[in-house]
Amino acid sequence: MNIPDLFSLNNSVAVITGGSGILGGAMAQGLLDAGASVVILGTNQEKVDSNVAGLHGIDDRKSGFVCDVTNEEQLRQVRDRIMARFGRIDILVNAAGGNRPGATIQPEQNFFDLNFSEFQQVTSLNYFGTVLPTLIFGEPMAAAGRGSIINISSVAAARSLTRVAGYSAAKAAVENFTRWLAVEMAKKFGEGIRVNAIAPGFFLTEQNRTLLQKPDGTNTERAAEILRMTPFKRFGDPKDLTGTVVWLAGNASSFVTGTVIPVDGGFSAFSGV
Ligand SMILES: NC(=O)c1ccc[n+]([C@@H]2O[C@H](COP(=O)([O-])OP(=O)(O)OC[C@H]3O[C@@H](n4cnc5c(N)ncnc54)[C@H](O)[C@@H]3O)[C@@H](O)[C@H]2O)c1
Repeated sequence: MNIPDLFSLNNSVAVITGGSGILGGAMAQGLLDAGASVVILGTNQEKVDSNVAGLHGIDDRKSGFVCDVTNEEQLRQVRDRIMARFGRIDILVNAAGGNRPGATIQPEQNFFDLNFSEFQQVTSLNYFGTVLPTLIFGEPMAAAGRGSIINISSVAAARSLTRVAGYSAAKAAVENFTRWLAVEMAKKFGEGIRVNAIAPGFFLTEQNRTLLQKPDGTNTERAAEILRMTPFKRFGDPKDLTGTVVWLAGNASSFVTGTVIPVDGGFSAFSGV
């Protein structure tokens, strides 16, 4: 097969939840560059607009909507608008998510200080906020018999990261859901619908800035520990996700389903010794 064709996303439509953020925005750019039309979703109108404006590409192929991934009604309305405009959805990247400062156990606290309401909210955003858009945007994919669903997990799913109990549990659930849905889709709809996840390592973005950076912009102790545990000795650059998301989105990964691909500079491979 022609190699550029394997990685071409021409004529396909990609929905990126959390595309208003740093990693979602970078992945949207990658999918756009590979030929897809991209629709980014986020809760903040300004961030949606500025990320759409910041995407380099033909205006016709980039758009955005305000849409909360935990709100079924909003998701349905947006799906109807996307279907009315493009007539298809081929790729779904579930990138909305992240930690919430209130759900983080502070260094001087322990598990019994956990704010349960925040724990529930971070779980709801990261887990239900993956399942619900998949239910709604996955339906036209299943009807058409083709589609690639890419969930965004985290290295926190497989290994214990101190302090972020709810976030980690939710991402572990996302990985379990990825495997479960991959099997369900294959059994009920054939090999046209694939479901995979990407587990990014550490990238400096809005949702984790307070954990990684002091107000003066220098690294926190936690950031220094992370870099010590990352063989590449750096945080990820959002562009580091491009190749993986484009590969998983299209024909180049046609026999790949139910996997979790770490993009982490070696973090998950390293024992620390
Ligand atoms: N930054 C990292 O190091 C890292 C590592 C592993 C996984 N991740 C995951 O990558 C994804 C993207 O995060 P990011 O680091 O780019 O953070 P970010 O804060 O830059 O982006 C997250 C985006 O999600 C949007 N969002 C939040 N709640 C939403 C909701 N209810 N509905 C719709 N959109 C909503 C936010 O407005 C924001 O634009 C998240 O799932 C995060 O957990 C990030």
